[in-house]
Amino acid sequence: VSKKFCFSLVILTALSTALPTIAFGASADERAQAAVDTRQGLLKVVVSYFGPIVGMARKQIPFDAALVEKNAAKIAQLAPMIPDVFRMDTRAYDLETEALDNIWDNTDDFADKAATVAERAAALSAAAADGEAAAMKAFGAVGAACKGCHDEYRVQQ
Ligand code: HEC
Repeated sequence: VSKKFCFSLVILTALSTALPTIAFGASADERAQAAVDTRQGLLKVVVSYFGPIVGMARKQIPFDAALVEKNAAKIAQLAPMIPDVFRMDTRAYDLETEALDNIWDNTDDFADKAATVAERAAALSAAAADGEAAAMKAFGAVGAACKGCHDEYRVQQ
């Protein structure tokens, strides 16, 4: 067997093990960071729909039933994604996160709390047409459901 052939084999073997890592292989640390970015990103999207309704509750902007109906419906769609984006257990990694470790000991409860937000946001969307008082009462229930999860599973602000 020629030396040249042996050398080619070594190169081929090295490439075939390296290529998948280059193409698909984020390291575990990179995957954990991506999981944090994704879940924080989702919650930023959630709050982008939630924020205008907070402004209405504080009378900083006028009550807008159509916007409440729309934004609450978006929150009802997004909330069930929360458990999905927290699926990767990132406890073992050194990351900047406000997520508490107990999430991954209580994944059923965590999912239930997200489902409660979804239900109450759907109720808010439906209540928007009933006028400001009814809508703001329903909005209070959504906020309490967000807090219900944060109290258990997020670093206290
Ligand atoms: C099932 C649990 C759960 C529910 C429900 C929930 N959150 Fe959170 N939220 C978290 C956790 C955990 C974090 C910390 C995530 C991290 O830092 O990795 C967080 C972080 C956030 C952040 C900070 C995102 C960032 O990093 O910039 C905002 C804003 C937020 N939540 C808003 C809300 C609002 C508004 C609701 C209700 C409509 C809500 N959350 C419902 C668990 C939840």
